[in-house]
Amino acid sequence: MSDSKPVAGAEKPSYYITTPIYYVNAAPHLGTAYCTILADVQARYRRAMGYDVKFLTGLDEHGEKVATAAADHDMTPQAWCDSLVPAYTDLWRELEISNDDFIRTTQPRQTKAVQRLFEVIKDNGYLYKGAYDGWYCIHEETYFTETQVRHADEARGTQGQHLCPDCGRPLERVQEESWFFKLSEFQEPLLKLYRENPHFVEPEIRRNEVVSFVEGGLKDLSVSRTSFTWGIPLPFDEGHVTYVWFDALINYLTAVGYGQDEPGSAEELARRWPAQHIVGKDIIRFHCVIWPAMLMAAGLEVPKGVFSHGFLMVRNEQTGQGEKMSKSRGNAIAPREVLDLLGVEGYRYYFMADVAHGQDSAVSFARMEQVYNTDLANSWGNLVSRTLNMSSKYFDGRSPELPEGWETRESPVRAAAEGICERYAACMDAFDYQGGLAQVMDLVHAANHYIEEAEPWALAKDPARADDLAFVIGTLLEAIRIVAHLLEPVMPTTSAEVLCRLGAADEAGCDDLAAACAWGGVPQGVPVTKGEALFPRLATE
Ligand code: MSP
Repeated sequence: MSDSKPVAGAEKPSYYITTPIYYVNAAPHLGTAYCTILADVQARYRRAMGYDVKFLTGLDEHGEKVATAAADHDMTPQAWCDSLVPAYTDLWRELEISNDDFIRTTQPRQTKAVQRLFEVIKDNGYLYKGAYDGWYCIHEETYFTETQVRHADEARGTQGQHLCPDCGRPLERVQEESWFFKLSEFQEPLLKLYRENPHFVEPEIRRNEVVSFVEGGLKDLSVSRTSFTWGIPLPFDEGHVTYVWFDALINYLTAVGYGQDEPGSAEELARRWPAQHIVGKDIIRFHCVIWPAMLMAAGLEVPKGVFSHGFLMVRNEQTGQGEKMSKSRGNAIAPREVLDLLGVEGYRYYFMADVAHGQDSAVSFARMEQVYNTDLANSWGNLVSRTLNMSSKYFDGRSPELPEGWETRESPVRAAAEGICERYAACMDAFDYQGGLAQVMDLVHAANHYIEEAEPWALAKDPARADDLAFVIGTLLEAIRIVAHLLEPVMPTTSAEVLCRLGAADEAGCDDLAAACAWGGVPQGVPVTKGEALFPRLATE
């Protein structure tokens, strides 16, 4: 099963991680990029820990929301989707997203998987035909009952207006023939799942939300539409297309071979499934309630876990408060603006290190500059450039040769590096990237302090202390090597560059992080490269 730990010499265990598939109603934005980077860092970290990773992202192309966006642009839905794909794939490439697959729900493989799953859950007795009469929000692609709408309207003071309880937009009245999924039968099995696997939904605040929602009772769910055609046709009832969420969730199975008849697809499914899902807090009911119920109905294993991140808000510098980001408020930050300011790796570092991933977080350009300058320019970048300069200057363009057993000699830097991989991994496993990166920064700070304390420039003036000088520089280079490995999931290009400058280029992209972080592995007596500043300081206003 996928959460078994890697064992040296044995076949790599599988780790399958997914992002939500994004609606193609607009180009990617800061929130979707954030979620994708968060998943990418976990995928890269797991590869470094020795897992055989499959990392999936993609696009949700069906449904009324996408069809409406296409119509607004006088395009067919398919032409509209095709035209937007590069906006996603190009940005993901630029942001160093290492996905192994990119799924689009209009691909034939998705039609096969959706139709297969429908057949199976129908055969298992969990579908019945009826009529839906209620409210629908196109923006949220969600059904609401009369009571839910009335309560939300009353609470808001918009009685009789029928506005969406989630987003406040006007709802559509839907009355149509529909197939229903017997979600109501899954209340007990779901509560049992949350009880027996307390980490199924994380963080805890979301778990509690999901548990109390399910405890409140579940209603059967309308899963096909007849007043509408932009979707996957039901295999057993002409004129019905799949409800977009039912279609979308199945993408996670499609990408690992479900419903495909190619040789090897059944083996792939057995090996890869279940997945770890990364989603925003707004879509946990779909992922933690409807999706596991669908899987149970089909006789398949439920996901390994669902990690839910918070929402990015924009920090208002006047009030210090976070505000909802939106185009209409004029406060939305585009990924391009952040890329222009921080560069790709500064971008990734900021969102991974300064945002508490389970909570809502307020971001701002001022904070971005501050974090970049403090952590990357002044601390990490500075450590690398000072150390490489000194090594090059005092050891004729090379790293020092060190006496045998040097790695057992104590220093504050070695002490700070002791057990760092375990501490870092405990945080990264729990999606606490802030905690993991704080561990790494502690080592960077210890190394920078050590330079001040040990004063290698003074040692260099005293030929009798040549061994001490070699030890100090060797210690610093070793700390840099370890930090580069630990930062690689977040900043892969600069880490590879640093390893290259140290003469350890072959260590980049390692798949045994614990071994790589063992103290003492720094290459000795090899040419080192001073190079350009990795993170040039930003001139703040
Ligand atoms: N298509 C569905 C997902 C189907 S998955 C089977 C969908 N798409 S979406 O494009 O609307 O949103 C995708 C993700 O973006 C969600 O996880 C949502 O939480 C995230 N975000 C949207 N705005 C956000 C922020 N301001 N901050 C962080 N993430 C946000 O829902």
